[in-house]
Amino acid sequence: MKSIVVLTGAGISAESGLKTFRDSGGLWEGVDVMEVASVEGWYRDREKVLEFYNVRRVQANKAQPNAAHLALKKLESKYDVQIITQNVDDLHEKAGSANVLHLHGMLREAKSEKDDNHIIDLGDKAINMGDTCPKGGQLRPNVVWFGEMVPNIEPASQIVERADAVIIIGTSLVVYPAAGLIDYAPVNAPVYVIDPSRPAYPGTGHDVTFVEKTASQGTPELVEKLLNS
Ligand code: APR
Repeated sequence: MKSIVVLTGAGISAESGLKTFRDSGGLWEGVDVMEVASVEGWYRDREKVLEFYNVRRVQANKAQPNAAHLALKKLESKYDVQIITQNVDDLHEKAGSANVLHLHGMLREAKSEKDDNHIIDLGDKAINMGDTCPKGGQLRPNVVWFGEMVPNIEPASQIVERADAVIIIGTSLVVYPAAGLIDYAPVNAPVYVIDPSRPAYPGTGHDVTFVEKTASQGTPELVEKLLNS
């Protein structure tokens, strides 16, 4: 079965009501991303960061997958679909996709400041100051902040190396190492980029098709074409 690797970003969740990072003038829900999604921001004001993610978690828990997420599930009927997402929501999982790798963690999970392996599923529950792991470490969102390593980048690059085709949906391709994944795609793998405002494509040597439409319009159309090809 041919492998299609799908790299998604905040744009695929936009039509499910979740804001992107750089569309709205570089503010995520009105807040400077570096204040709430960076190690410095965490040490500067933990309560502000916890509260910011508590609100995002409730919002993401209510969000429903849109036609783009559902089309990617449908693609599994003919292809081995591997989704690599920069998103921290669980919309791909809600749509039923079988293979989802999160590069930047998941909103619905918490981890301990003292123990990276202590991961708990919160659902939509809040994390408050004083919520600690058995070792006494303060709990924090299990997301990757600016200034932190991306533990899943190695397995992600190995998945992209095996791609017969790559679909990129709703990402500005400006944040590394995620944006650098495209360099691992075989040069003979066609690349499709679905985004209403055509992002600067960082890769070289690929046959790239830009679909200048929203995720919920462009993804079902491309999936139909791939299922009928
Ligand atoms: N359909 C498809 N694409 C869309 C839509 C839509 N309805 N709306 C917006 N977009 C596109 C924008 O044109 C933009 O190219 O989605 C992209 C969103 O880009 P960003 O806001 O930069 O989000 P993303 O690329 O996922 O950010 C990467 O940056 O802040 C960090 O960790 C955070 O994972 C995030 C990373």
